[in-house]
Amino acid sequence: MSKILLDSADINKAKEIAKYYSIAGITTNPSILSKIDKPLEEKLAEIKEFAYDKYEIHVQTTENSAQKILEEAKTLKAYFGETFFIKIPVTKEGLEAIRLCDKEGINVTATAVLSAMQALAAAKNGASYVAPYVNRLENIGQDAEEVIVEIKELLKDYKTEILAASFKNVKQFKNILLCGAEAATVAPDVLETSIWHPYTDKSVIDFEKDWERKFNSSKVVDALK
Ligand code: G3P
Repeated sequence: MSKILLDSADINKAKEIAKYYSIAGITTNPSILSKIDKPLEEKLAEIKEFAYDKYEIHVQTTENSAQKILEEAKTLKAYFGETFFIKIPVTKEGLEAIRLCDKEGINVTATAVLSAMQALAAAKNGASYVAPYVNRLENIGQDAEEVIVEIKELLKDYKTEILAASFKNVKQFKNILLCGAEAATVAPDVLETSIWHPYTDKSVIDFEKDWERKFNSSKVVDALK
């Protein structure tokens, strides 16, 4: 079963999408949060109000040393609750922090993953998810699907799941799920495009025209009254 998350801090958009699409959570990163148009405390409160106890909440550390990442993760978990995941980039300090956070019972998403060996290192230290960056891999000429398949193979004896990230189009999104990623986080525009097809819209219009030609404005249940 594929879990789909929204890679966005646009909570109004998330609310709109959550009405019709079963999302599993919200992911953000420092770049996403740097674009918000309100104070950070308001944005964090908005995310909490929307997702607390209901959706996964993934927020990236803004610290660099393992001990400080742990302290930040503890504070963020106390605020966001049990569905919180601290996103930690896979560096040497990050890997140490992943181990420390896991020992403290804090969910970890190892992020900025660009190789299967980075994913393995994060899994060994207890990460719940590894987040390979699909589009960024393709931007430098690497085969993102191959990386996902390799991660899948290396992680088969670990609890760690793949939360694929960094998508620019629906083809990447679909293919990575077909490669076996357990989860993917996508920007709202990619998610919206993934469920759109021009021929569906045309079909709906054609059905309406045919119906009105025969039955005017009456509805199908009117025949049962
Ligand atoms: O949240 C991390 C990841 O989704 C980054 O995506 O589009 O900036 O490569 P992008």
